[in-house]
Amino acid sequence: MRSAISSWIVVFGVLIAQAEEPKKPRYETRKLHDPDGIGKFYVGREIAHVMGHQGAGWLERPEREKEEDPAKLLKALEIQPGMTVADIGAGSGYHCFRMSPLVGEKGKILAVDIQPEMLALIKTRAKKENVTNIDLVEGTETDPKLPEGKVDLIILVDVYHEFSQPYEMTEKMIAALKPGGRIAFVEFRLEDPKVPIKLVHKMTERQVTIEMEQFPELEHLKTDKSLPWQHIVLFKKKEVK
Ligand SMILES: C[S@@+](CC[C@H](N)C(=O)[O-])C[C@H]1O[C@@H](n2cnc3c(N)ncnc32)[C@H](O)[C@@H]1O
Repeated sequence: MRSAISSWIVVFGVLIAQAEEPKKPRYETRKLHDPDGIGKFYVGREIAHVMGHQGAGWLERPEREKEEDPAKLLKALEIQPGMTVADIGAGSGYHCFRMSPLVGEKGKILAVDIQPEMLALIKTRAKKENVTNIDLVEGTETDPKLPEGKVDLIILVDVYHEFSQPYEMTEKMIAALKPGGRIAFVEFRLEDPKVPIKLVHKMTERQVTIEMEQFPELEHLKTDKSLPWQHIVLFKKKEVK
């Protein structure tokens, strides 16, 4: 009897200790950090500075064809006519205009960015080229402002590592996906020292999967490493049973 009581006291004590243990903050700021980062850390990595719209010309550089092989990337994503694809952090629209003919007139590209100047570049080009299936969406640092449950595929090319609020953005991205919808993290491979990109603008496959493990709605489908410098870490939103 006495040992049963003491066991209960131990269990009770552990429960109280757990309840009182302060929760670790999601984000941490450090004074000592990489100058290319914002000094804010999430799941052990430093978040990078957002690439300003003044650098939009760099996103359209011809060398990207060789360095990133966008045609191969889009083929790997198996984009079908009629799909709704959200390009979050669309920048100058480098991938939007390549995806527009793939989804066709029954499909839609939702070009999301937090910099209105980037969206203005897409608007001007769409008008010039008479492209009518790209919708512009001005997001915020915590919310891509996408319709709930309507998106087949979200692509994030060289973007996710710049999100200042990655947890909140991921929650909203998941909400925007249809059940079975996919999300593709296209990041420069940090595992490969030969990829000549600043450190905080690269991510390992493991880092992406660890961060997504916080979201039980997501299932890791595969990681495609066939691009010259990037990997495509692909997840699916689980079907509701
Ligand atoms: C390096 S550029 C990449 C642009 C484009 N994906 C490409 O591959 O050409 C990153 C873009 O992400 C945008 N961005 C950063 N944080 C964002 C957020 N929370 N929501 C939407 N866009 C964001 C930036 O404004 C910038 O245009």
